[in-house]
Amino acid sequence: MDKRNIRNSDATSWEEVILIYTSALKAIETKLEILNNEFQHVHSYNPIEHIKSRIKTSSSIVKKLKKNGHEATIENMVEHVNDIAGVRIICSFTSDLYAVAEMLASQSDLEVISVKDYIKSPKPSGYRSFHMLVRVPIYLSNRIESVKVEIQIRTVAMDFWASLEHKINYKFEGNVPEHVRNELIECADKSAELDAMMLSLNEEVNQIKVEKQE
Ligand code: GTP
Ligand code: MG
Repeated sequence: MDKRNIRNSDATSWEEVILIYTSALKAIETKLEILNNEFQHVHSYNPIEHIKSRIKTSSSIVKKLKKNGHEATIENMVEHVNDIAGVRIICSFTSDLYAVAEMLASQSDLEVISVKDYIKSPKPSGYRSFHMLVRVPIYLSNRIESVKVEIQIRTVAMDFWASLEHKINYKFEGNVPEHVRNELIECADKSAELDAMMLSLNEEVNQIKVEKQE
């Protein structure tokens, strides 16, 4: 971590800022754990398969600031880099994914800044995911900080696709040959079909269970 690349322009140190973002990740993770446990209690199943979270590295923060024409300062990173704290929630079904998004959005201490539904409108690359940028309050000894966290919610299939596509992009340094790009788009479409089929199969099976219980 080369934090020397980030200029400290006031008393706020790099360590303090990172501590605050790490706390924000913990707060979101705890909210998700509570929701998942309650869902398990009420509906006897977990909508969340697993969660991955990360703090952006200082070199990625500096790279993003420079790419967008900003000087590398702590103020600029807090203001302009929205994904310093990132949480990725992996669900089995698209219905779970929207349920989790709604449960989070309805919490009164979470402010939803923006929502991008790349499932209803996939990116030209084929990328699908539901993104939410939120603010979560972090109670410190002498103040409350409202901290931005980028939440990406996707199915297992969407996550599988996104990690392969990321790896391929990295390998070709962004210049992915056209036939590979086209195949990736085809893979994304097929995995969306698979998601839809598995969702309807699951709904059918749940229906059978309900009928048996009656
Ligand atoms: P970034 O500057 O990349 O953060 O993009 P943005 O601010 O325009 O936001 P966007 O919602 O488009 O993307 C945010 C994040 O979603 C990225 O950092 C990736 O983690 C993920 N993402 C977006 N598009 C793609 C894609 O085409 N492929 C993959 N693998 N991930 C993507
Ligand atoms: Mg990003």
